[in-house]
Amino acid sequence: MEKQVKIAVLGLGVVASGLVENLNAAKEKIKQQTNLTFSIAKVLVRSRENKEEQAKKHQLTLTTDVNEILDDPTIDIVVELIGGTDAAKKWIIKALKQKKHVVTANKDLIAQFGNELTSIAKQSNVSLFYEASVAGGIPILHTLNNSFIADEITGIKGILNGTTNFMLTQMAELGLSYDKALQTAQAAGFAEANPTNDVDGWDAAYKLMILVRLAFAKDLALKDIKIVGIQSITQKDNDYAQKLGYQIKLLAQVKKIEEHLYAEVAPVLLSNTHPLAVVKNEMNGILIESKAMGTSMFYGPGAGASPTAQSVLADILAIAQNMTNKQPVPQMSVSNLPNCEIHEEVVSDYYFLLSDCTVDLANFLEKQEVKTLSLSQTDLIEAAFVAKQLTIKQKDWLIEQLQQVSHIKQILSVVEE
Ligand code: HSE
Repeated sequence: MEKQVKIAVLGLGVVASGLVENLNAAKEKIKQQTNLTFSIAKVLVRSRENKEEQAKKHQLTLTTDVNEILDDPTIDIVVELIGGTDAAKKWIIKALKQKKHVVTANKDLIAQFGNELTSIAKQSNVSLFYEASVAGGIPILHTLNNSFIADEITGIKGILNGTTNFMLTQMAELGLSYDKALQTAQAAGFAEANPTNDVDGWDAAYKLMILVRLAFAKDLALKDIKIVGIQSITQKDNDYAQKLGYQIKLLAQVKKIEEHLYAEVAPVLLSNTHPLAVVKNEMNGILIESKAMGTSMFYGPGAGASPTAQSVLADILAIAQNMTNKQPVPQMSVSNLPNCEIHEEVVSDYYFLLSDCTVDLANFLEKQEVKTLSLSQTDLIEAAFVAKQLTIKQKDWLIEQLQQVSHIKQILSVVEE
């Protein structure tokens, strides 16, 4: 028997507009395959200005009063696409308490309050799904929640921010300036309303927190993650990285070392032979290391209206199918998770860029018994090299030595495999 599902959307920005388009395009196929018919009952907008034409085209009923949605007993699913953590949190809690299922793409909110919101959803016996909050169109949360349930994950490495990956690719391959690359990412709709979240690494950190929750059943706080953005990356770093056989990527990673986690978001030099090196522009890539599977990689568009909207739509469909099959309501993560114990990273390779160098660096490093992977010294003035397998103590010691004979312009971790 055909079932009608009524949804309401909070917001009509980039992703919400993509959702309206994708839902309209897929309506017939969804109906044939699932016997479900979806209607968008209401859309919350801040102001009707500039939205009337879009509303007319898709026959949307706009409202500026959220309670017209939250207090409407006929609405089954609320889709939150306004972003931010204040109003979004308040309205999601109210929707859950009114026994409405909720779908959101809001990573800031789920990263910081996902545990609390999941508990409320459980108490109300409704679903809270947020696939689109991590890695845009890649169904990574569903995969962690289902396919890896019987496996033990030991590490995750991910390119999780489309904006910075787009910027770094454009800077390296087309020689675009940092500002021009950011403007292009903003125009394409990849960047956050406040792009500081992208370039400072916060967006990737929020996504990492969500992945950690599903992969390790631990609740990370932002302060548990070492976060470094991409602002210090220059064209010179890109040139040297290329000469030495690397690409610069903003990498989010978490490793389980004994019972402790080490989590970091930072620009790194990624070897050209690393599987994540193929992840360019706004694409995202995630490597999962696990005991039974070994290494698996997930790749796809990490930002943009249509891919992100498609993840939102998949959540809506999953909820609607559970509603009609009268299945127990699943959640995307367990609640009341313990905080995690943090471990300091121990050994890593490091890239150094030096200027005003007064020595022959190859000789100097050999005398200091520093193992190097590659060295590029154009003259005695400027040099870049990768030092192998340094502990934090050895790195600090090397910095002191180098400061006596040069000016250190950049230090980045290097990821080989
Ligand atoms: N600003 C985000 C990004 C959007 O660039 O990845 C998708 O989460």
